[in-house]
Amino acid sequence: MTILLNIKGLKMRFGGLLAVNDVNFAVKRNEIAAIIGPNGAGKTTVFNCISGFYKPTAGRITLEERDITGLSSDKICRAGLTRTFQNIRLFSKMTVLENLLVARHNQLNRGYFAGIFRSKSFKESEKNAIVRALEILEFFGLTQHCDQAAENLAYGKQRLLEIARCLMTNPKIIILDEPAAGLNPQETAELGEFIRNIRAKLSTAVVLIEHDMNLVMNIAENIMVMEYGCPIAYGNPAEIRANERVIKAYLGEE
Ligand SMILES: Nc1ncnc2c1ncn2[C@@H]1O[C@H](COP(=O)(O)OP(=O)(O)OP(=O)(O)O)[C@@H](O)[C@H]1O
Ligand SMILES: [Mg+2]
Repeated sequence: MTILLNIKGLKMRFGGLLAVNDVNFAVKRNEIAAIIGPNGAGKTTVFNCISGFYKPTAGRITLEERDITGLSSDKICRAGLTRTFQNIRLFSKMTVLENLLVARHNQLNRGYFAGIFRSKSFKESEKNAIVRALEILEFFGLTQHCDQAAENLAYGKQRLLEIARCLMTNPKIIILDEPAAGLNPQETAELGEFIRNIRAKLSTAVVLIEHDMNLVMNIAENIMVMEYGCPIAYGNPAEIRANERVIKAYLGEE
């Protein structure tokens, strides 16, 4: 299978702290992958580097063989990679639908004048965006909430809305930072189904950072374990579960 996202020799230094130290990780087209490890291991920092929020100290990141290292987050988004955040970042006063439309605006970088003069192409793309947004809301079972302010949604639905939003630009890959944080077991199981469906129906690869091991072991095909900035293991769920070093550093004894 072809490699979609390739991370090579990634390092990120904050002053004296090497938060990410030589991470190599490849994600195949249409794959569900996960990054796990203890608090402070450097997982979110890896995401910040690959999504253009930090400029890595060293290393090379390619998306479909295109070098995206150090590009701005909106350029990386246009190249086909979008993300969610560990803490919910919705526009809380805006409606559910508006939260999706805004994502599209930020990411498409429409010509300034096209907006001012409301050109035909501008109106056309607005219409397409609404159609797309409604499709995605339907996919996540959020249609009936479309006119509700985001802040009035139940917490679990807000987390889904975050994922919905990052699908607005038809990404090839989405990276989710602790999508199950704060969800109850039933919501977490549903989330797992949504992630499987995203891959199946939209052909989008997914990488998640997650502390919920049930979810990870259920849906991920390929896992990287980090500790103190370093990858300490790579493998499928069975290999990771049986790995002595991972058990010691993170999973603990049964
Ligand atoms: N902008 C920053 N400036 C300085 N240090 C940072 C910055 N971002 C992260 N760090 C440090 O880098 C290390 C890795 O942090 P990171 O947030 O990547 O961990 P994590 O694996 O996502 O942890 P958690 O599971 O708690 O979310 C931590 O020691 C953190 O304090
Ligand atoms: Mg984190």
